[in-house]
Amino acid sequence: MSTFQVTRTLPADATTAALRSDVSHGLGSEPKQLPPKWFYDARGSDLFEEITRLPEYYPTRAEREILIARAADIATATGARTLVELGSGSSEKTRYLLDTLTGLEVYVPVDVSESALVQAGEVLLADHPDLAVHALVADFQHGLVLPETPGPRLVAFLGGTMGNLLPAERAAFLGSVRALLSPGDALLLGTDLVKDEATLVAAYDDSAGVTAAFNKNVLAVLDRELGADFDPEDFDHVALWDAEHEWIEMRLRARTALTAKIPALDMAVSFAAGEEMRTEVSAKFRQESVRAELAAAGLGLRHWWTDSAGRFALSLAFPDSG
Ligand code: SAH
Ligand code: AVI
Repeated sequence: MSTFQVTRTLPADATTAALRSDVSHGLGSEPKQLPPKWFYDARGSDLFEEITRLPEYYPTRAEREILIARAADIATATGARTLVELGSGSSEKTRYLLDTLTGLEVYVPVDVSESALVQAGEVLLADHPDLAVHALVADFQHGLVLPETPGPRLVAFLGGTMGNLLPAERAAFLGSVRALLSPGDALLLGTDLVKDEATLVAAYDDSAGVTAAFNKNVLAVLDRELGADFDPEDFDHVALWDAEHEWIEMRLRARTALTAKIPALDMAVSFAAGEEMRTEVSAKFRQESVRAELAAAGLGLRHWWTDSAGRFALSLAFPDSG
């Protein structure tokens, strides 16, 4: 019999406290910025799912192709009895692992979006009658504590979400993942790869305007959660390729000079006409940069798989012994 359990590892007010701190720090900085995790309320999670189906947004299709081709290799190499997935969202691509990891007993999806976890749980229960699903509403960047489950454990971090962390955040994050792993456990990491600028920019500035709506949704989150009076219509969506850092940067650009009030923070924020606020970076990788970042965290890259067009990579890494 399958079971589904949701645990909030964050106190009810922790999300609000973290949002307040990120907004007061980020909007008080020069240039202004916000961390991308605040995109993902219920509407933001739905918009992200819509993005994954856009013709221009290739990463989801490319990663799915690799998972279909390599799920059996992943099963053989890991023998996983527990699958932990960080930033699991809809768990849509995870099905290829769940169907193929024959010894799997427990699936632990971890996400800040409770709505995404609950929706995914409904599908999982129907499709995997023998699986115990222990969903965690948690921030994978801060003190993640996993439930006691049988090893070996496979920790999956798919979709290229690691690219949404800044380099110092990635180093801290990979170190914390390494600390969760015992000998025989493994990390399965999805990373989008450096490619031509036109393909990259189109993926983050689609013709239907879904990514623009996703980007502006963060303002709706601030309005609802902090009583702010941002009007998303006062901002334009910007997606640009930063060749030096090898990342896509999403920004919101003020159409006119404006001041927004944020009553919950007792704060007013002024934008000059044309001023841009960074809302996301999405770093793109090369095999050597992935290998080096894993190695710096004590993780050895054992397998590197790409899709047939070489757009996206899945890495399988194991903790260094000793
Ligand atoms: N893995 C899925 C979803 C990617 S979207 C896929 O490959 O399609 C990124 C997901 O990470 C969202 O569901 C978002 O809510 C979650 N997320 C972003 N930052 C997070 C954080 N700090 N802690 C936990 N989840 C986070
Ligand atoms: C979740 N993450 C990997 C997505 C990305 O491609 O960086 C989020 C996203 N932002 C705009 N489109 C999709």
